Amino acid sequence: MRKSFFPTCRFSRIMGSLQVLLGGAVILLSITSLFRLYFAGFFLRDENVCRHFYHVKDAYVGFDAKAISVRVDEVLSKMANLQEKLEIAVRKLEMNYGTSDKMNITKAEYRKFLEEEVIHPLSSAHISLRQIRIPGVNGFSNSTMKEDPLINYFMIEEIRKYIIPKSNRIGKLNIYDTDRIYNTIGHACVLMKNELEEYMNYDIGTFCKNDWNLAQNLMIKGCDPLPRRRCLTRASKLYQKPFPVNESLWKLPDNRNVDWSNYRCRNFGCLSSKNPRRGYSKCTGCFELEKEIVKWVSNGSLLVDFLISDVLAVKPGEIRIGLDFGIGTGTFAARMREQNVTIVTTALNLGAPFSEMIALRGLVPLYVTLNQRLPFFDNTMDLIHTIGLLDGWIDIQLMDFTLFDWDRILRPGGLLWIDRFFCSRKDLDDYIYMFLQFGYKKHKWVISPKSKEEVYLSALLEKPPRAL
Ligand SMILES: *[C@@H]1O[C@H](CO)[C@@H](O)[C@H](O)[C@H]1NC(C)=O
Ligand SMILES: *[C@@H]1O[C@H](CO)[C@@H](O)[C@H](O)[C@H]1NC(C)=O
Ligand SMILES: *[C@@H]1O[C@H](CO)[C@@H](O)[C@H](O)[C@H]1NC(C)=O
Ligand SMILES: *[C@@H]1O[C@H](CO)[C@@H](O)[C@H](O)[C@H]1NC(C)=O
Ligand SMILES: *[C@@H]1O[C@H](CO)[C@@H](O)[C@H](O)[C@H]1NC(C)=O
Repeated sequence: MRKSFFPTCRFSRIMGSLQVLLGGAVILLSITSLFRLYFAGFFLRDENVCRHFYHVKDAYVGFDAKAISVRVDEVLSKMANLQEKLEIAVRKLEMNYGTSDKMNITKAEYRKFLEEEVIHPLSSAHISLRQIRIPGVNGFSNSTMKEDPLINYFMIEEIRKYIIPKSNRIGKLNIYDTDRIYNTIGHACVLMKNELEEYMNYDIGTFCKNDWNLAQNLMIKGCDPLPRRRCLTRASKLYQKPFPVNESLWKLPDNRNVDWSNYRCRNFGCLSSKNPRRGYSKCTGCFELEKEIVKWVSNGSLLVDFLISDVLAVKPGEIRIGLDFGIGTGTFAARMREQNVTIVTTALNLGAPFSEMIALRGLVPLYVTLNQRLPFFDNTMDLIHTIGLLDGWIDIQLMDFTLFDWDRILRPGGLLWIDRFFCSRKDLDDYIYMFLQFGYKKHKWVISPKSKEEVYLSALLEKPPRAL
């Protein structure tokens, strides 16, 4: 066996290398201090600029001085810690110096010391320093400093790479006639810095963590849109080809086509309403197709349940495309598909694989939250159907923005089908006012009691032509 001991290292050698490192640290430290002074405005001799800097708030527009100063402080404290450690180490060496001019230190110990106490902190400080993006100098010519939005706020390099606007190559205008593309993220991402950083912390090109639920949580809480990622999404190991569309609409999908690892259930059977531990609470029973199959086609006990045939009869042949805004497994879209109507169904995976279920049925799930403007253009949809999502809890103003957005995408002559909306009796007038504010034509309008305090409202409304 080889001797693992370093045959006594010369003291002067150690001192020498430590001093070189220390020197490097001091230089870095000085550079960061310089940056600091620079940002504090010490080098801005131009009077105009100074005035702006000290007295006019506008100078900070597009310049997140606070974020940069936080980053610089971080580097400074890392460097200060490193310096202190090195100094202590040197002092220890000096104390040993008196006893002998050679001293014993194993190679492994020396290496460990350098790696853990010197190289690691140094590189971490180095990275932090590099992460600071300095606003373009061109700003000085007209006294505004512009940096890319949020660029100094996030620490994970991948987030920063994502949000940096991407300029077109060789200065051309792109297909949109702009000179750069912004990859956007939801502004509430700044409130969930740690979660977002965890989400975006991966090695490019490797498998992503199985963290769609973290992603969904970020979205629901307002970090929406999320940044794209450059890692490979995991899939169920045993993915089978889906059923043909003449079968898939009304058949529970193959359990193997869903990655169940983040759900309470492990198969579709478990999602049955009979199971109290099924893991979701909205649209109870909507994974039981024998219950779903009667919806919108057979007369229910409640007047608030309209039939698809009656609704389509209002505009024969005119309803071709639409949106189902709610929580469900796509049954509405499946029924409409049988009528040759294409419906896009909104879905979030709230405790159960709603998106996968809809897609495996051969329908289009649209993975959106209530946070965002709908990704459809004005006056394009023939139909919007809504059920089960906005009931009762929704803030009146949010409801108003949502309704205006629906109004925007509905075409003139398009139908808004409010299906079993429910709220407490005392709020009903407010909601009725909101539904009627657009002056739509009332084709159907039914209010019926749900419980002592609550009522159902179903309505079929037509957007009128709207002259310019
Ligand atoms: C260095 O190691 C030698 C033998 O390995 C030992 O005799 C000596 O006392 C050690 N010196 C110190 C300063 O530890
Ligand atoms: C300031 O700079 C921006 C971008 O370079 C330019 O678009 C703008 O016209 C300039 N404003 C003035 C007052 O020079
Ligand atoms: C579905 O269509 C395929 C061919 O398109 C056919 O072989 C199959 O029998 C059909 N299934 C049903 C249930 O009709
Ligand atoms: C539903 O009820 C209406 C009137 O009550 C009747 O005209 C219609 O035929 C029924 N439809 C179905 C599918 O049972
Ligand atoms: C849907 O389209 C198919 C093919 O064009 C046609 O055979 C069928 O009758 C249509 N169904 C309805 C309900 O209009």
